[in-house]
Amino acid sequence: SRKEADYTIAVSQCSEDDWRAQMNKEILREALFYPGVNIEVYQAHDDNVRQIQDIESLIKKKVDLLIVAPNEAEAITPVIEKVYDAGIPVILVDRKINSEKYTAYVGADNYEIGRRAGEYIADRLKGKGRVIEIAGLKGSTPAVERHRGMVEALKAAPDVQVIASVEAGWFQQKAGEVMDSLLDVYPQVDLVFAQNDRMAIGAYEKARQKKRAGQIAFVGVDAVTDGVESVAGGRLDATFIYPTGGDKVMQVAMAILRGEPYQRENILSTALVNRANARVMQMQMKHILTLDQKIELLNRQLDDYFLRYSAQKMFLYACVVI
Ligand code: FRU
Repeated sequence: SRKEADYTIAVSQCSEDDWRAQMNKEILREALFYPGVNIEVYQAHDDNVRQIQDIESLIKKKVDLLIVAPNEAEAITPVIEKVYDAGIPVILVDRKINSEKYTAYVGADNYEIGRRAGEYIADRLKGKGRVIEIAGLKGSTPAVERHRGMVEALKAAPDVQVIASVEAGWFQQKAGEVMDSLLDVYPQVDLVFAQNDRMAIGAYEKARQKKRAGQIAFVGVDAVTDGVESVAGGRLDATFIYPTGGDKVMQVAMAILRGEPYQRENILSTALVNRANARVMQMQMKHILTLDQKIELLNRQLDDYFLRYSAQKMFLYACVVI
């Protein structure tokens, strides 16, 4: 058989959206290379209580390893410490906790993303202008770190003014709502930095409804499907790649389970996506999708082959014995 070892790896996602769907898909695809490994994906609907319940039940189930994107650091830290203390290895992805009790981290440096965004904003506005920040869920570490990075970078551009920084919980609709009132309060806005593309798109749509979109540049973060499409179509000015890295997550998970060496901090890099490279990126994403489908097909054929092979082996054995 193709099977090596039986492991159950649980994935506890804080939310469900295109970005996370992409990461889950990469994890499942990479898991095909480790036959016998069983992946279970949970999602907490952006709810701390729900995520704590999910993780509590995974401790009881005694899963072999937990991959977790903690919704908000403070609320989720104790239950993750509990997992770690129970001897279950924990890989944090994308968001962090307020504790050293985790086995490894895989994700981008969100402070660096904020800093790069700040530099881009200063450059885009030629050193002068009025900026609104639409921030993600305030207790989640990427929201805190992206904000800090942006503020730090903007110190070098004293005439770029952040006139408002408002939370919209990572949600598109919420971003539209906050943008609605911000547009009423501020007659002149040059740029909106939304900490993810969904919020950037929500803010853009509202500005368009109010006939203000033309005067404002919208910058986001993530660069998965909709974000890249919006940059290519000129609705967003730019976005930054927030790598999902699901394959890397699985590789680290397997190294931990097999007792092989691994790095504790795995920092994935970012890059600017603007009008100049958005189409190229779209083409490459499409190409990757077809490769993914081929890998899945190949895997199914391999399973088929092994099934037939073991049947033949049984038959041969029977012939020899008789
Ligand atoms: C996806 C998401 C992304 C954002 C990240 C921050 O659930 O909201 O849009 O970049 O989480 O953790």
